[in-house]
Amino acid sequence: MKIIIGPASKELGEKTAKLTGLEKVPVTHKTFPDGETYTRLEVPVQGDHVIIMQTTSPPQDSRLMQLAFIADAAKRNGAKKVTAIIPYLAYARQDKIFLQGETISIQTVAHMLAAAGIDQLITINVHQEKVLTQFPFPAKNLSAISMLAEHFKQRGLEKAFALAPDKGAMHIVEEARKVLDGECGYLEKQRDRYTGQVSVEKKTFDVKGKAVIIFDDIISTGGTIVSAAKILRELGAAKVYAACVHPLLIGDAEKRILDAGVEEVVGTDSVPRHVSKVSLAPLISKELKEL
Ligand code: R5P
Repeated sequence: MKIIIGPASKELGEKTAKLTGLEKVPVTHKTFPDGETYTRLEVPVQGDHVIIMQTTSPPQDSRLMQLAFIADAAKRNGAKKVTAIIPYLAYARQDKIFLQGETISIQTVAHMLAAAGIDQLITINVHQEKVLTQFPFPAKNLSAISMLAEHFKQRGLEKAFALAPDKGAMHIVEEARKVLDGECGYLEKQRDRYTGQVSVEKKTFDVKGKAVIIFDDIISTGGTIVSAAKILRELGAAKVYAACVHPLLIGDAEKRILDAGVEEVVGTDSVPRHVSKVSLAPLISKELKEL
């Protein structure tokens, strides 16, 4: 087994290579003046099982193309199997038809990746795990939630209330609660399918004077966390933190969240940002050792 570290996941790829001891396949990547990507493997991979690590956070389209080119290059050069590790899987939120005339984007992405030569996929906290059952190759979801919860526990936040900003994230906070050993709950969130506007319904929890950690899979614009934090403030929470696996943090999302009274945003290196304080390398390395 050899690893190819994609240009979008350099640090995580290096950490994973170190932990697993996998041989790295050097790759040349270039971007032409017109924006097109060039990829060339510098050593043979004949007969190898090749692992490609490439996240697909923004700019997701060019990162998906880079991944497809690496997979194709591996297969053309004799790789016997290609496993893609895509920590943040782009387009996973468009996993069904919400409005007539739409596409199921994640299915199109999966078929493109299969056409490029990918035989197997490992991802982390995909938006809805069931989407993976429709992929044209075996696809596995790993969860980084207990690692995020452990990060807070180590910092003295044991017994903190774990809050899901919507019912869909309830399984996430159940997982966090097992580590934090406190209570958990969820809010009801609605998103306007035309404007993208989020509204979160107020519910009553006993969080007065308590530390609360809002857990979500993705923080994108920050709208969801801002709405949840506002409710928690009204309910008298002492301190509010935000944790997510994929800190996309588009534009001034982090500032908006902090301005809403959240102490800190913590994410993983699925998307390398300055808030990426929890590394996925141990989780991914353990999985690779079992392949
Ligand atoms: C959607 O349901 C996801 O789980 C996240 O809650 C959502 O992507 C967060 O987006 P934003 O930060 O833009 O509110």
